[in-house]
Amino acid sequence: MFITLEGPEGSGKTSQMSDLAKYLREQGYEVITTREPGGTSIGDQIRSVLTNLENTELMPRTEILLFLAARAQLVEQLIRPALENGKIVLCDRYGDSTLAYQGYGHQTDLDLLKRLLAFATGGLKPDLTLFLDIDVETGLQRKIDADEWNRLDAYEIAFHIRVRQGYKTLLAEEPERWVLIDASRPQAEVQKMMRQAVTFRLKMS
Ligand code: TYD
Repeated sequence: MFITLEGPEGSGKTSQMSDLAKYLREQGYEVITTREPGGTSIGDQIRSVLTNLENTELMPRTEILLFLAARAQLVEQLIRPALENGKIVLCDRYGDSTLAYQGYGHQTDLDLLKRLLAFATGGLKPDLTLFLDIDVETGLQRKIDADEWNRLDAYEIAFHIRVRQGYKTLLAEEPERWVLIDASRPQAEVQKMMRQAVTFRLKMS
């Protein structure tokens, strides 16, 4: 089963994902965790270009292609082999991030993005996507407090609001794939909701 975590900045995906992986391993599942952009040695090199605050001249098309390049590498090198070996793959961000950030956020043509995405991933889609939702100001403040500010966070608030709204549109288009989780709730509660969503989906499969 291929599970992705999505959400605006500061939704706490990363630490929630490692707690979820730990729980699933305790239940006897083999679990691989990874993140985007990155997750492979080549992908991590691409990530450093994308997140470097000095790269102010990075062009929007270049940015899109770099996200997709990192993803293509990750799918081929790690995700597909793991799924073929019966493992659960948990991925911190995936194609929906490109649609939400580059599509809704930067207003790049969505149909074009979807075609590029299909090329980059060979059509691999998640079985389940957990959407950790948080309002934009709270999320960005969490990142500032944690000293995790990077080039991609530095867009104006209106951009981040479009991203969050974009996620909600994506969710409405494919409600059977997504589960919305209120990430403003205490951490333990968020984790509990995530576990319930995954357990339910595993029982169904
Ligand atoms: P990261 O520091 O990993 O943020 P987070 O902890 O919120 O996931 O940085 C990833 C950034 O890249 C984040 O701002 C979202 C952005 N992004 C895109 O714009 N498009 C994409 O396709 C992906 C995967 C990420």
